[in-house]
Amino acid sequence: MTKSSKTEPKQSLLKNKSFIVETIYIIIIIIITILIFLDFIDTGFFLGSLRFSHWMGIIGALFIMFFAPLFYFMKRRFPKRYNILMNIHIFGFTTSFLFVSIHFAGQLSRPLQFYPDLGAGLALYIIVVVLVGTGYLFRYHPFKSKSGKISPHFNRALHVSLISGLYIVIIVHVVLNFLM
Ligand code: HEM
Ligand code: HEM
Repeated sequence: MTKSSKTEPKQSLLKNKSFIVETIYIIIIIIITILIFLDFIDTGFFLGSLRFSHWMGIIGALFIMFFAPLFYFMKRRFPKRYNILMNIHIFGFTTSFLFVSIHFAGQLSRPLQFYPDLGAGLALYIIVVVLVGTGYLFRYHPFKSKSGKISPHFNRALHVSLISGLYIVIIVHVVLNFLM
């Protein structure tokens, strides 16, 4: 590998608009989550029959559950539309991550006497965080090792294999907290 080809990927990453927007988006989500957790933002008000933070959890989870199989199917059925599908994948799932983070931080900031029993919901949030993290690493390869990219296939394998777990835990969470 020549010197110039070694530095090329880093330069192109900083010129990659998708990478810049996605990185800023994730940082904003982390800040919003912390602000809700510290009670600087209130998400406990009612919107119709449910609290705002619950609507966020429901909308975020619905998008994830419907778009994941749709993406899998559409990517193979319409290969020429790959770029647009991938952009919806990245920014749609990141928006779901924002919604789910609002729900999660809303739960964690509840007063002690009404604190929820952390269980399936916590596991679900960890799964979503790992999905977003592995998706980001696999898409942009932001960290380089001396030998090149750090195990991108490991990230892809983890990303895809987590999806069945995601479905199982979402169903358990909804049945335990919402339907029972
Ligand atoms: C990826 C999506 C979601 C995540 C990460 C998540 C996360 C959480 C967490 C951490 C809690 C605290 C209790 C626990 O750990 O189980 C919780 C509670 C709750 N969630 Fe979710 N949730 C998600 C989706 C949903 C959906 C789709 C619904 C409704 C259909 C929902 C309804 C509720 C309700 C009603 C509670 C309150 C339980 C109580 O009052 O003790 N969540 N969620
Ligand atoms: C809740 C969040 C997410 C879910 C449920 C999800 C779901 C999926 C699924 C089902 C696939 C497999 C597609 C296939 O094999 O054809 C996939 C692949 C992929 N995902 Fe995600 N994803 C999420 C978040 C993200 C994020 C935030 C990014 C990027 C920042 C990302 C990047 C990727 C990439 C690069 C692939 C490989 C696509 C390909 O090989 O054509 N994902 N994801």
